[in-house]
Amino acid sequence: MVKEFIAQSPEILPDTFESTWSSPSNIALVKYWGKKEGQIPANPSISFTLDHCATTTRVKFTRKETPGISFDLLFEGEPKPSFKPKIQQFIDRILPYMEFLEGYHLEIDTSNSFPHSSGIASSASGMSALALCLMSLEAALSGAEEDANFYKKASFLARLGSGSACRSLEGPLVSWGQHEHISGSSDLYGTPYRGQLHKTFLDYRDTILLVDKGQKQVSSTVGHGLMHGHPYAEARFEQAHRNLAELLEVLQNGDSRAFIRIVESEALTLHAMMMSSNPYFILMKPNTLEIINKVWDFREKTGSALCFTLDAGANVHLLYPGSEADEVMKFIEDELVDYCEQGQYICDRIGEGAKRR
Ligand code: PMV
Repeated sequence: MVKEFIAQSPEILPDTFESTWSSPSNIALVKYWGKKEGQIPANPSISFTLDHCATTTRVKFTRKETPGISFDLLFEGEPKPSFKPKIQQFIDRILPYMEFLEGYHLEIDTSNSFPHSSGIASSASGMSALALCLMSLEAALSGAEEDANFYKKASFLARLGSGSACRSLEGPLVSWGQHEHISGSSDLYGTPYRGQLHKTFLDYRDTILLVDKGQKQVSSTVGHGLMHGHPYAEARFEQAHRNLAELLEVLQNGDSRAFIRIVESEALTLHAMMMSSNPYFILMKPNTLEIINKVWDFREKTGSALCFTLDAGANVHLLYPGSEADEVMKFIEDELVDYCEQGQYICDRIGEGAKRR
């Protein structure tokens, strides 16, 4: 238990309360892969907060006579029993920090701005939006402001639902995990990047090429678990520390070649860890590799700052400065859409974080 985050239970609780938050997804530049007991990351990570890809969640709290917390879940207006175990696990983990929830029934109504079966994980945006709704009730009970401490605890709670969710509350970049060069960094919650940011990163784009919209064969939870006893684990965790240190400099000096080198290496290393796990697995598809090779050709020919990164899946995130948007969109339309399932991709950009609705 982390004492700092245990809420006082007030004597008088409102009969009803309602809160709605919209929270974006994020894309890691230095990846989190591998965790310790209690959702503690094995290495620090940092991500761009996205803008368009988001989950909007409304929670209606109603006091009930019988003890214990209960909830109903609607996803895009329909009951979604398959999401309930993950939410139940989240509630079980956060309850010691919000005991006042014990007397409530929660109606959770959630929807995504991106298509459900797009292969885009909604756990980061979903868990952070839900954590913020719960925090709004806590703040209303205690009279607290929506200040830095509010976001810190919301991030702490979101992490208990899904690790990377703790990086989805603020923008434009958030790190998570203790790192010697980031003051205030913690394994328990995300820390918004407060260093100087080179102007090139103020308008960065992320176009997500939907290579495979299906459910992935190996979940992130299983993947993280396979880093225990992984032959390259320690070297990987040290590398992430070094890459993050180097990236912090790049964020200030705007060195696009160094940015590309770190970000692409991180993406391929993430997948290399999967391929060298026991049991091993591959989440990339042939079209993932086709796109990567096309991106390298394009860069070679044009000197563009376009680069790719990957999540735990086959889809490819293309990152590039807004100043190159026209050329890159033409390249995508001319040469990459054929590798996307049904020619689909999502245009997103670096964003400012969650918003109360
Ligand atoms: O937050 P999880 O447990 O779904 O893990 C996400 C891990 C990656 O997306 C692959 C990397 C990251 O840092 O976001």
